[in-house]
Amino acid sequence: MKRSIPLRTAVIPAAGFGTRFLPASKAVPKEMIPLVDKPVIQYVVEEAVAAGLTRIAIIVSEGKEAVAAHFQSFPAMEDRLEKTGKKELLSEIRSLSSIPDITFIPQKELKGLGDAVLQAKDFVNGEPFAVLLGDTVLRAEGRKSVTGQLKEVYEKTLSSVVASEHVPRERISKYGIIESRKADGFSGKVEEVLSLVEKPSPEDAPGDLAIASRYLFTPGIFEELENTPPGKGGEIQLTDAMKSLLKKERMFTRIIDGKRYDLGSKIGFLKSTVEFALARDEFREEMLCFLREKLADYEMDPDKQ
Ligand code: UTP
Repeated sequence: MKRSIPLRTAVIPAAGFGTRFLPASKAVPKEMIPLVDKPVIQYVVEEAVAAGLTRIAIIVSEGKEAVAAHFQSFPAMEDRLEKTGKKELLSEIRSLSSIPDITFIPQKELKGLGDAVLQAKDFVNGEPFAVLLGDTVLRAEGRKSVTGQLKEVYEKTLSSVVASEHVPRERISKYGIIESRKADGFSGKVEEVLSLVEKPSPEDAPGDLAIASRYLFTPGIFEELENTPPGKGGEIQLTDAMKSLLKKERMFTRIIDGKRYDLGSKIGFLKSTVEFALARDEFREEMLCFLREKLADYEMDPDKQ
Protein backbone atom coordinates (compact mmCIF):
# COMPACT_ATOMS: atom_id res chain seq x y z
CA MET A 1 0.00 0.00 0.00
CA LYS A 2 1.27 3.48 -0.94
CA ARG A 3 2.17 5.89 1.85
CA SER A 4 0.34 9.17 1.84
CA ILE A 5 2.69 12.17 2.04
CA PRO A 6 0.77 15.42 2.47
CA LEU A 7 1.00 17.73 -0.51
CA ARG A 8 2.63 21.02 0.43
CA THR A 9 4.99 21.97 -2.39
CA ALA A 10 4.40 24.00 -5.57
CA VAL A 11 6.85 24.50 -8.43
CA ILE A 12 6.12 27.40 -10.77
CA PRO A 13 8.21 27.49 -13.95
CA ALA A 14 8.66 31.11 -15.04
CA ALA A 15 12.05 31.08 -16.73
CA GLY A 16 11.10 30.84 -20.42
CA PHE A 17 12.06 33.41 -23.05
CA GLY A 18 8.45 34.25 -23.86
CA THR A 19 9.16 34.73 -27.57
CA ARG A 20 5.44 34.77 -28.39
CA PHE A 21 5.12 38.02 -26.46
CA LEU A 22 8.07 39.92 -27.92
CA PRO A 23 8.97 42.75 -27.85
CA ALA A 24 7.12 43.28 -24.53
CA SER A 25 8.84 40.26 -22.96
CA LYS A 26 12.39 41.31 -23.85
CA ALA A 27 13.08 43.15 -20.58
CA VAL A 28 9.82 42.58 -18.71
CA PRO A 29 9.17 38.91 -17.87
CA LYS A 30 5.90 37.80 -19.48
CA GLU A 31 4.90 36.45 -16.06
CA MET A 32 5.02 40.08 -14.80
CA ILE A 33 2.65 41.44 -17.43
CA PRO A 34 -0.48 42.60 -15.60
CA LEU A 35 -3.91 41.13 -16.02
CA VAL A 36 -5.91 44.25 -15.12
CA ASP A 37 -3.84 45.24 -12.06
CA LYS A 38 -1.99 42.14 -10.92
CA PRO A 39 0.94 40.42 -12.62
CA VAL A 40 0.12 36.98 -13.95
CA ILE A 41 2.58 35.29 -11.56
CA GLN A 42 0.67 36.69 -8.57
CA TYR A 43 -2.55 34.95 -9.65
CA VAL A 44 -0.55 31.74 -10.01
CA VAL A 45 1.06 32.01 -6.56
CA GLU A 46 -2.34 32.85 -5.04
CA GLU A 47 -3.79 29.70 -6.60
CA ALA A 48 -1.06 27.59 -4.98
CA VAL A 49 -1.61 29.26 -1.60
CA ALA A 50 -5.39 28.78 -1.91
CA ALA A 51 -4.77 25.04 -2.38
CA GLY A 52 -2.96 25.00 0.97
CA LEU A 53 0.54 24.71 -0.48
CA THR A 54 3.07 26.32 1.82
CA ARG A 55 6.42 25.65 0.10
CA ILE A 56 6.61 27.46 -3.19
CA ALA A 57 9.49 27.55 -5.68
CA ILE A 58 9.54 29.78 -8.73
CA ILE A 59 11.95 28.79 -11.50
CA VAL A 60 13.56 31.89 -12.97
CA SER A 61 16.33 32.83 -15.39
CA GLU A 62 18.55 35.84 -16.03
CA GLY A 63 16.47 38.97 -16.61
CA LYS A 64 13.54 37.77 -14.44
CA GLU A 65 14.65 39.64 -11.30
CA ALA A 66 11.38 41.57 -11.25
CA VAL A 67 9.55 38.36 -10.32
CA ALA A 68 11.47 38.08 -7.02
CA ALA A 69 11.19 41.83 -6.40
CA HIS A 70 7.42 41.60 -6.67
CA PHE A 71 7.26 39.29 -3.65
CA GLN A 72 9.76 41.20 -1.49
CA SER A 73 8.82 43.90 0.99
CA PHE A 74 9.21 47.53 -0.09
CA PRO A 75 9.39 49.58 3.13
CA ALA A 76 9.57 53.05 1.48
CA MET A 77 6.40 52.39 -0.52
CA GLU A 78 4.61 50.91 2.50
CA ASP A 79 5.58 54.02 4.47
CA ARG A 80 4.15 56.30 1.79
CA LEU A 81 0.88 54.34 1.62
CA GLU A 82 0.61 54.43 5.40
CA LYS A 83 1.17 58.21 5.55
CA THR A 84 -1.34 58.91 2.79
CA GLY A 85 -3.97 56.67 4.44
CA LYS A 86 -4.20 54.20 1.53
CA LYS A 87 -4.99 51.31 3.83
CA GLU A 88 -6.39 48.87 1.27
CA LEU A 89 -3.40 49.19 -1.01
CA LEU A 90 -1.08 48.94 1.96
CA SER A 91 -2.55 45.65 3.12
CA GLU A 92 -2.45 44.33 -0.44
CA ILE A 93 1.23 45.21 -0.83
CA ARG A 94 2.06 43.80 2.60
CA SER A 95 0.23 40.54 1.94
CA LEU A 96 2.50 39.96 -1.05
CA SER A 97 5.65 39.83 1.01
CA SER A 98 3.97 37.62 3.59
CA ILE A 99 3.19 34.79 1.15
CA PRO A 100 4.79 31.75 2.76
CA ASP A 101 8.29 30.83 1.91
CA ILE A 102 8.95 31.51 -1.80
CA THR A 103 12.25 30.13 -3.05
CA PHE A 104 13.69 31.25 -6.39
CA ILE A 105 15.56 28.56 -8.31
CA PRO A 106 17.64 29.46 -11.38
CA GLN A 107 17.34 27.62 -14.67
CA LYS A 108 20.73 28.42 -16.22
CA GLU A 109 20.08 27.23 -19.75
CA LEU A 110 16.55 27.44 -21.10
CA LYS A 111 16.19 23.82 -22.16
CA GLY A 112 12.42 23.60 -21.92
CA LEU A 113 9.63 23.10 -19.42
CA GLY A 114 10.78 19.60 -18.44
CA ASP A 115 14.26 20.93 -17.64
CA ALA A 116 12.71 23.81 -15.64
CA VAL A 117 10.80 21.34 -13.44
CA LEU A 118 13.96 19.22 -13.03
CA GLN A 119 15.76 22.21 -11.45
CA ALA A 120 13.40 21.84 -8.46
CA LYS A 121 14.40 18.22 -7.69
CA ASP A 122 16.42 19.02 -4.52
CA PHE A 123 13.81 21.49 -3.32
CA VAL A 124 10.99 18.96 -3.75
CA ASN A 125 13.02 16.43 -1.77
CA GLY A 126 11.14 13.27 -2.64
CA GLU A 127 7.62 14.53 -1.90
CA PRO A 128 4.63 14.84 -4.22
CA PHE A 129 4.37 18.35 -5.69
CA ALA A 130 2.25 20.56 -7.88
CA VAL A 131 3.44 22.31 -11.07
CA LEU A 132 1.66 25.50 -12.09
CA LEU A 133 2.79 27.19 -15.32
CA GLY A 134 3.73 30.75 -14.50
CA ASP A 135 2.20 32.31 -17.61
CA THR A 136 -1.28 30.81 -17.33
CA VAL A 137 -4.14 31.82 -15.05
CA LEU A 138 -6.82 29.24 -14.20
CA ARG A 139 -10.02 30.72 -12.93
CA ALA A 140 -11.97 28.12 -10.97
CA GLU A 141 -15.73 27.80 -10.96
CA GLY A 142 -16.81 27.25 -7.40
CA ARG A 143 -14.71 27.63 -4.31
CA LYS A 144 -11.94 25.15 -4.98
CA SER A 145 -8.93 26.39 -6.99
CA VAL A 146 -7.88 24.21 -9.92
CA THR A 147 -4.79 23.05 -8.02
CA GLY A 148 -7.17 22.29 -5.12
CA GLN A 149 -9.27 20.16 -7.51
CA LEU A 150 -6.17 18.15 -8.50
CA LYS A 151 -5.14 17.79 -4.87
CA GLU A 152 -8.49 16.16 -4.07
CA VAL A 153 -7.84 13.48 -6.69
CA TYR A 154 -4.26 12.97 -5.49
CA GLU A 155 -5.46 12.40 -1.94
CA LYS A 156 -7.72 9.58 -3.16
CA THR A 157 -5.35 7.98 -5.67
CA LEU A 158 -1.83 8.88 -4.42
CA SER A 159 -0.97 9.10 -8.13
CA SER A 160 0.02 11.91 -10.49
CA VAL A 161 -2.90 14.02 -11.70
CA VAL A 162 -3.01 16.37 -14.67
CA ALA A 163 -5.56 19.13 -15.23
CA SER A 164 -7.43 18.99 -18.52
CA GLU A 165 -10.18 20.67 -20.48
CA HIS A 166 -12.09 19.87 -23.65
CA VAL A 167 -10.86 21.99 -26.57
CA PRO A 168 -12.44 22.63 -29.97
CA ARG A 169 -11.07 20.58 -32.87
CA GLU A 170 -9.23 23.52 -34.47
CA ARG A 171 -7.14 24.02 -31.31
CA ILE A 172 -6.18 20.39 -30.69
CA SER A 173 -2.80 20.79 -32.44
CA LYS A 174 -1.71 23.45 -29.93
CA TYR A 175 -1.82 21.21 -26.84
CA GLY A 176 -0.76 17.96 -25.27
CA ILE A 177 -3.78 15.67 -25.77
CA ILE A 178 -4.84 12.95 -23.34
CA GLU A 179 -6.30 9.54 -24.11
CA SER A 180 -8.26 8.41 -21.09
CA ARG A 181 -10.93 6.06 -19.79
CA LYS A 182 -13.46 6.25 -16.98
CA ALA A 183 -11.87 5.86 -13.56
CA ASP A 184 -13.54 3.53 -11.05
CA GLY A 185 -15.00 5.27 -8.05
CA PHE A 186 -15.05 8.74 -9.60
CA SER A 187 -17.65 10.87 -11.30
CA GLY A 188 -17.14 11.81 -14.97
CA LYS A 189 -14.70 14.59 -14.12
CA VAL A 190 -11.87 12.25 -13.20
CA GLU A 191 -10.48 9.79 -15.75
CA GLU A 192 -7.50 7.50 -15.87
CA VAL A 193 -4.81 8.55 -18.37
CA LEU A 194 -3.92 5.89 -20.94
CA SER A 195 -1.59 7.86 -23.19
CA LEU A 196 -0.45 11.37 -24.07
CA VAL A 197 0.28 12.90 -27.46
CA GLU A 198 2.02 16.25 -27.81
CA LYS A 199 0.35 18.63 -30.30
CA PRO A 200 -1.27 16.04 -32.63
CA SER A 201 -3.19 16.89 -35.77
CA PRO A 202 -6.95 16.63 -35.11
CA GLU A 203 -7.07 13.48 -37.30
CA ASP A 204 -4.41 11.71 -35.21
CA ALA A 205 -5.61 12.92 -31.81
CA PRO A 206 -7.04 10.32 -29.43
CA GLY A 207 -9.67 12.81 -28.21
CA ASP A 208 -10.19 16.45 -27.36
CA LEU A 209 -8.96 16.55 -23.75
CA ALA A 210 -6.04 18.96 -23.54
CA ILE A 211 -3.51 19.30 -20.71
CA ALA A 212 -4.40 22.53 -18.90
CA SER A 213 -1.20 23.99 -17.37
CA ARG A 214 -1.50 22.43 -13.91
CA TYR A 215 -0.04 19.11 -12.76
CA LEU A 216 0.47 17.16 -9.62
CA PHE A 217 3.34 14.70 -9.67
CA THR A 218 4.70 11.90 -7.56
CA PRO A 219 8.48 12.36 -7.16
CA GLY A 220 8.91 9.53 -9.72
CA ILE A 221 8.69 12.20 -12.45
CA PHE A 222 12.27 13.33 -11.70
CA GLU A 223 13.86 10.04 -12.73
CA GLU A 224 11.93 10.22 -16.01
CA LEU A 225 12.97 13.86 -16.57
CA GLU A 226 16.61 12.92 -16.00
CA ASN A 227 16.34 10.21 -18.65
CA THR A 228 14.34 12.23 -21.18
CA PRO A 229 16.43 13.25 -24.19
CA PRO A 230 15.75 16.64 -25.82
CA GLY A 231 12.69 16.42 -28.06
CA LYS A 232 10.94 19.01 -30.23
CA GLY A 233 13.05 22.18 -30.62
CA GLY A 234 15.94 20.64 -28.62
CA GLU A 235 13.92 21.11 -25.42
CA ILE A 236 13.27 18.59 -22.65
CA GLN A 237 9.54 18.10 -22.88
CA LEU A 238 7.54 17.52 -19.72
CA THR A 239 5.01 15.49 -21.74
CA ASP A 240 7.77 13.05 -22.81
CA ALA A 241 8.72 12.44 -19.16
CA MET A 242 5.03 11.97 -18.29
CA LYS A 243 4.75 9.33 -21.02
CA SER A 244 7.65 7.39 -19.46
CA LEU A 245 6.13 7.76 -15.99
CA LEU A 246 2.87 6.31 -17.34
CA LYS A 247 4.69 3.07 -18.12
CA LYS A 248 5.49 2.68 -14.41
CA GLU A 249 2.70 4.41 -12.48
CA ARG A 250 -0.98 5.14 -12.87
CA MET A 251 -1.92 8.71 -13.76
CA PHE A 252 -5.27 10.48 -13.60
CA THR A 253 -6.75 13.55 -15.19
CA ARG A 254 -9.18 15.99 -13.60
CA ILE A 255 -11.39 17.76 -16.15
CA ILE A 256 -11.33 21.15 -14.50
CA ASP A 257 -14.22 23.18 -13.19
CA GLY A 258 -12.86 26.44 -14.50
CA LYS A 259 -11.30 28.19 -17.42
CA ARG A 260 -7.74 28.59 -18.66
CA TYR A 261 -6.31 31.99 -19.64
CA ASP A 262 -3.07 31.74 -21.61
CA LEU A 263 -1.20 34.97 -21.01
CA GLY A 264 1.85 33.82 -22.93
CA SER A 265 0.27 34.78 -26.27
CA LYS A 266 -0.74 38.26 -27.36
CA ILE A 267 -4.30 37.34 -28.31
CA GLY A 268 -4.70 35.34 -25.11
CA PHE A 269 -3.59 38.38 -23.13
CA LEU A 270 -5.97 40.72 -24.96
CA LYS A 271 -9.03 38.46 -24.52
CA SER A 272 -8.21 37.75 -20.87
CA THR A 273 -7.80 41.44 -20.09
CA VAL A 274 -11.28 42.21 -21.43
CA GLU A 275 -12.83 39.26 -19.57
CA PHE A 276 -11.15 40.03 -16.23
CA ALA A 277 -12.05 43.73 -16.52
CA LEU A 278 -15.70 42.81 -17.18
CA ALA A 279 -15.68 40.61 -14.08
CA ARG A 280 -14.82 43.61 -11.87
CA ASP A 281 -17.70 45.81 -10.67
CA GLU A 282 -15.62 48.97 -10.82
CA PHE A 283 -14.82 48.57 -14.54
CA ARG A 284 -17.77 46.60 -15.94
CA GLU A 285 -20.09 49.37 -17.00
CA GLU A 286 -17.51 51.65 -18.59
CA MET A 287 -15.83 48.74 -20.31
CA LEU A 288 -19.13 47.43 -21.74
CA CYS A 289 -20.03 50.89 -22.96
CA PHE A 290 -16.63 51.18 -24.67
CA LEU A 291 -16.94 47.74 -26.28
CA ARG A 292 -20.45 48.48 -27.56
CA GLU A 293 -19.24 51.74 -29.09
CA LYS A 294 -16.30 50.01 -30.78
CA LEU A 295 -18.53 47.25 -32.12
CA ALA A 296 -20.99 49.77 -33.52
CA ASP A 297 -18.13 51.68 -35.18
CA TYR A 298 -16.83 48.50 -36.81
CA GLU A 299 -20.28 47.42 -37.98
CA MET A 300 -20.73 50.79 -39.69
CA ASP A 301 -17.25 50.75 -41.21
CA PRO A 302 -15.37 47.42 -41.00
CA ASP A 303 -12.16 49.01 -42.41
CA LYS A 304 -12.03 51.64 -39.71
CA GLN A 305 -8.66 51.69 -37.87
P1 UTP B 1 6.09 28.14 -22.79
O1 UTP B 1 5.89 26.84 -23.44
O2 UTP B 1 5.03 29.15 -22.96
O3 UTP B 1 7.55 28.64 -23.28
O4 UTP B 1 6.33 27.86 -21.25
P2 UTP B 1 8.29 30.03 -23.37
O5 UTP B 1 9.60 29.66 -23.92
O6 UTP B 1 8.32 30.82 -22.12
O7 UTP B 1 7.38 30.89 -24.36
P3 UTP B 1 7.44 31.12 -25.94
O8 UTP B 1 6.84 29.87 -26.53
O9 UTP B 1 8.89 31.36 -26.30
O10 UTP B 1 6.59 32.31 -26.15
C1 UTP B 1 5.34 27.59 -20.29
C2 UTP B 1 5.90 28.01 -18.92
O11 UTP B 1 7.13 27.32 -18.66
C3 UTP B 1 8.19 28.24 -18.43
C4 UTP B 1 7.72 29.56 -19.03
O12 UTP B 1 8.31 30.66 -18.35
C5 UTP B 1 6.22 29.51 -18.88
O13 UTP B 1 5.78 30.08 -17.66
N1 UTP B 1 9.45 27.74 -19.04
C6 UTP B 1 9.51 27.38 -20.34
C7 UTP B 1 10.58 27.66 -18.24
O14 UTP B 1 10.54 27.98 -17.02
N2 UTP B 1 11.77 27.24 -18.81
C8 UTP B 1 11.86 26.89 -20.12
O15 UTP B 1 12.98 26.51 -20.57
C9 UTP B 1 10.70 26.96 -20.91
